[in-house]
Amino acid sequence: MRRKSPRAGKDGRALGYQGRRRKGAGRDEQLRILLRRSAIERRVRQLGRQIGADFKGERVHLIGVLKGASIFLSDLIREIRLEVSLDFIAVASYGQSSHSSGQVRLIKDLDNSIEGLHTILVEDILDTGRTIAYLQRVLLQRKPRSLCVATLLSKRSRRVREIQPDYVGFTIPNQFVVGYGLDFAERYRNLRDICVLELPGGQR
Ligand code: IMP
Ligand code: MG
Repeated sequence: MRRKSPRAGKDGRALGYQGRRRKGAGRDEQLRILLRRSAIERRVRQLGRQIGADFKGERVHLIGVLKGASIFLSDLIREIRLEVSLDFIAVASYGQSSHSSGQVRLIKDLDNSIEGLHTILVEDILDTGRTIAYLQRVLLQRKPRSLCVATLLSKRSRRVREIQPDYVGFTIPNQFVVGYGLDFAERYRNLRDICVLELPGGQR
């Protein structure tokens, strides 16, 4: 028998996961929708058009920060009407908890040189800014023609490093979010909406 796929109801409750208790690592987790898939889709389209206009007639090279930015990047790239190439980089950040260790380490380097290219670093979320600050430093040493930052989300109040992203999807409050590529201990990346993850007693 085919199972009905969950659909968004007017109040959002019928989405299949909102407010639902999930069994995960022995604790109850609650999800509350912050950004719906339709709003994300609209905003990603706008960002793609903006990039297209800003780099009119040029080629752009997108660098996705694995793994969180992969979903955003795959949607964004299809909204850019330019010649586009793609690469990925990975850094170690949060590990199995949602607390930043404050340490950033390269775990997967780019496949190709970026020398002379208009590059756009594509990130899922700008939090303390340590990851982007580190990546900007590493990538600028490789002499790209230009280096921009596109982040889907930004938690401005959490910044410890001064970063001026060129493209920001949404500025969000200081809450831990999952979905659309963002994870909590590698889970929830597949949610279509971006949700606030609430743990019992506010723990993380
Ligand atoms: P930053 O170095 O503190 O700016 O952290 C950036 C990285 O932390 C992001 O690429 C995410 O992987 C992770 N991160 C920060 N905030 C969240 C969140 O609310 N949900 C999921 N991951 C987050
Ligand atoms: Mg990330």
